[in-house]
Amino acid sequence: MLEVASSAELRAATDAARQRGAGVGLVPTMGALHAGHRALLAMARAENGFLVASVFVNPLQFGPAEDLAGYPRDRDADLAVLEAEGVDLAFLPSEREMWPSPPEVRLRVGGGLAERLEGLHRPGHLDGVATVVAKLLHLAGPSRAYFGQKDAQQLAVVRRMVDDLAFPNRVVACPTVREPDGLAVSSRNAYLSGPERQRATALYRALEAGRAAFLAGRRDPGAVEAAARDLLEDQPGVEPDYVALVDPATFEPAKQAEPGQVLATAARVGRTRLIDNVIL
Ligand code: PAJ
Repeated sequence: MLEVASSAELRAATDAARQRGAGVGLVPTMGALHAGHRALLAMARAENGFLVASVFVNPLQFGPAEDLAGYPRDRDADLAVLEAEGVDLAFLPSEREMWPSPPEVRLRVGGGLAERLEGLHRPGHLDGVATVVAKLLHLAGPSRAYFGQKDAQQLAVVRRMVDDLAFPNRVVACPTVREPDGLAVSSRNAYLSGPERQRATALYRALEAGRAAFLAGRRDPGAVEAAARDLLEDQPGVEPDYVALVDPATFEPAKQAEPGQVLATAARVGRTRLIDNVIL
């Protein structure tokens, strides 16, 4: 596996791969790699001749009160995972390499994607994601880039960016990887104490209760959301930010519950904010 820190080396390696006729795949990450990242890497490994993974904790997507400084960083452990997953090139730029000065031209996410759910609760977050993903796509020039369904709104923003701005890359979604008890795997799970970890299972149980209501024939979005919210609100120590049934592309609220819609939730468990979703 090649390890590079500069954009120039990344470009040179992916140019050479394309010249050899190898399809380039890209898996962007912020490191602290876990089973969710590994699933993306495995899928990307199977579908591309040359696999690039990036590890960059992007300051643009963290709010002033968020955990940028405390975000888990373990370079050696990440490199071991990337190597084990058969990555050809690991791109680990420094902050100075990616943003030598704060970029003055950035992408801004608008419409429902910006005004609802994560857009509302984390102002500027999705703009920061779009801006860094745009740069990573330009640097690596992948045929396909891989994103987890776990971050459904991020996935929708990237898809919309690629469509709106005619990026030549294909966006591939990867199903959410969960712990045996249903909790979605996340770097932030490491912040949970033992009892909080136990309580955190309420998110997935709530989403499953919402999905069960849909499968039992409920078509009123409010009824599907209430089935999930009731379960969350019954769990002491879990503070929901939202429970919402939305269109998977626009994140507009569902008018009627239909297959393919996303039932999404965010909740605080102690000081840790967790998000999860299921597809109806
Ligand atoms: P990060 O949180 O490291 O996640 C990298 C990718 O892994 C994202 O596409 C995310 O959706 C996916 N992922 C995380 N947990 C997952 C799980 N349990 N199952 C499946 N996929 C999972 O998301 C980011 O980094 C950043 O915003 C990034 C896109 C790299 C831009 O900075």
